[in-house]
Amino acid sequence: MQKEVVVSGIRPTGFLHLGNYFGALRNYVRMQDDYQCYFFVANWHSLTTHPDTRELQKSVLRVLAENMACGLDPEKVALYVQSDVPEIAELYLYFNMLAYKGELEKTVTFKDKVRQQPDNVNAGLLTYPVLQAADIIIQRAVKVPVGKDQEQHLEMARNFAERFNYRYGDILPLPYAFNYGEDLIRIMGLDGNGKMSKSENQMATLYLADEDDVIRKKIMKAKTDQGPATVHSDMPDFIQNLFTLLGLVSQADVVDHFKTQFNNSSAGNCVIRYGDLKKQLAEDMVQFISPIREKAAALQADEKKLKDLMAMGADKARTRAKETLYLVRQAIGLNY
Ligand code: TRP
Repeated sequence: MQKEVVVSGIRPTGFLHLGNYFGALRNYVRMQDDYQCYFFVANWHSLTTHPDTRELQKSVLRVLAENMACGLDPEKVALYVQSDVPEIAELYLYFNMLAYKGELEKTVTFKDKVRQQPDNVNAGLLTYPVLQAADIIIQRAVKVPVGKDQEQHLEMARNFAERFNYRYGDILPLPYAFNYGEDLIRIMGLDGNGKMSKSENQMATLYLADEDDVIRKKIMKAKTDQGPATVHSDMPDFIQNLFTLLGLVSQADVVDHFKTQFNNSSAGNCVIRYGDLKKQLAEDMVQFISPIREKAAALQADEKKLKDLMAMGADKARTRAKETLYLVRQAIGLNY
């Protein structure tokens, strides 16, 4: 039986961090056996916000290497760079005739960007969701693993596909946002402020490229308080976050040990020592991150291999993309 097709795009800006790993990447890794997966680095999209491309090439290679280091297998999935698949750009052109200026202007992410970069409100920014729709539909994907913030874009992708089907014939499947619901783990910054992924503060974010001593330092500086004042206290969210991290990288008995200490603590008798918890967490985090970091570094050191893998991914992506474009051109009547 033909497996369902999954597409997702990875932004090449910024270093991958623990929030990306547990919020997205780990799910991609799980999907690679059950679905026919297409994962790509969205470097065209990044031009809408990052016109300076001096760092881009390096970032793209790093993101690819980091994704493979986390367990994405380029033999199982198509792992590629958006700009290596020109078919996407052609579909984007057709979808642009089906997207209305009014709906694009109303998109939440567009309005955010207008606020953030008032001097560069380019048309690419306006049509960002159109390009995203093309990324997805060029592979005729039905499932798109993305976070909540992308649901509006997915709804727009469905609208464009529906309009296409209505106008030119029913050939495009409709894509839906998808994730492993329950297992979506939200990791806060170590300073207790917002999501790790949104954190402006580098000290509050654990990157998959962080050296061992940096990991230790960040965790030892994580926000804590004077400890619980009654037995079975409510946990403040920044303490809960440390337990979440412990739950992800430490042994179950370690987590239980500190939970019991927390629950048995009270004012004047604080059994839990956050310093000890953080020391343990730091060591377990080093055990977790260092193999990923090293694998990613080794891949980046072998640029030839990395580029060969990239080319293989592009080949797979283009094979299916060409089929879609053939159908699309037939439907529109561009098959002369
Ligand atoms: N817009 C997505 C984000 O900000 C990235 C992206 C681009 C994407 N194209 C995509 C995600 C296609 C899923 C499918 O994270």
